[in-house]
Amino acid sequence: MLKLKHSMNLAEIRKSVFKDIETARNVKALEQVKGKYVGRQDGALTIILRSLKDMSPAEKKKVGPEANVLREEIEQALDKKLKEFEAVAASRGIDVTMPGKKVAFGHLHPLTLVEQKIREIFRSLNFSVVEGPEVETEYYNFDALNIPANHPARDMWDTFWVAPSQDRKPTTAETRRLLRTHTSPVQVHYMEKHQPPFQIIVPGRCFRYEATDASHEINFHQIEGLMVGPDVQLTHFKYLLTQFFQRLFGAGVEIRFRPSYFPFTEPSFEVDIKLNNKWLEVMGAGMVHPNVFKAVRYNPKQVQGFAFGMGLERLAMIKFGITDIRLFYSGDLRFINQF
Ligand code: FA5
Repeated sequence: MLKLKHSMNLAEIRKSVFKDIETARNVKALEQVKGKYVGRQDGALTIILRSLKDMSPAEKKKVGPEANVLREEIEQALDKKLKEFEAVAASRGIDVTMPGKKVAFGHLHPLTLVEQKIREIFRSLNFSVVEGPEVETEYYNFDALNIPANHPARDMWDTFWVAPSQDRKPTTAETRRLLRTHTSPVQVHYMEKHQPPFQIIVPGRCFRYEATDASHEINFHQIEGLMVGPDVQLTHFKYLLTQFFQRLFGAGVEIRFRPSYFPFTEPSFEVDIKLNNKWLEVMGAGMVHPNVFKAVRYNPKQVQGFAFGMGLERLAMIKFGITDIRLFYSGDLRFINQF
């Protein structure tokens, strides 16, 4: 007697296989039908064919030709059905047998990632996030920050001016417009509308008419910070900054303060961070100058505070070990896809 590992005999196979082929709804289902009956490993018919060698000559003579004919018929039916699928797909312009296309999802730019992280750190330290205009008046970018016209300190910032209107009306610091060279004007906007105590950060885009190199761009981002109250001191700033940099870069980060000059802070200093054994300037800072408080009608005898402005690109360079700032804006996918 024919001993089958598989439970189906030839008659049973014949009874179901053609119906299975006919009702397969797609190529994948058809592949499964094929596997079930003529699959190399354990197709029902394959098992019968494989067992021919163990049969008696009489059995073999009976079963062999019948099994081979059935195999032929199944192969033909499978082939016919596959062609039908292909014809339908071709008429729709789709090759259903092609592997699927991978859907590419976008991801956040490294500058966005670092800005989000910075916002998160400052929010956890109870700072509010404030924004301001990218096109400024001369008054907010310079005058209100204790940088009067013709003062040499204006040379610290190479400025893109917005062309004046053609009506030849005399312009003033309040009407002359420029692309802001830093986020510090937002200090003034905010203080005009709010009373201390408060602590804010101001992320935003800045523009400078500068030659570009590995650490300078004409378009870059700063994050301004301002904390004002009756007794806000430099020690508070130092604590805040240490907290901030440790959370951003980890406990081992090396920070250095350098005395510096800004017209809107006194005393002023610059903060550097070590990258690849070199110090990189990342921030200007200081105690808010009394003249800035006067410009917003605060009494400098009653309030004091600190301000800082850091370069987002420079911080992202340190965070990710990027050595050229221009890569951020190169649009090069080999760079961008690393994040
Ligand atoms: C200022 O812009 C001051 N407004 C900062 C400040 C705010 C001082 C509040 C005191 C109180 P500075 O020009 O140094 O300062 O720029 C600050 C930071 O912006 C720099 O440390 C640097 O990280 C970044 N930065 C400046 N210029 C560029 C540039 N061309 N490309 C990329 N980053 C720049």
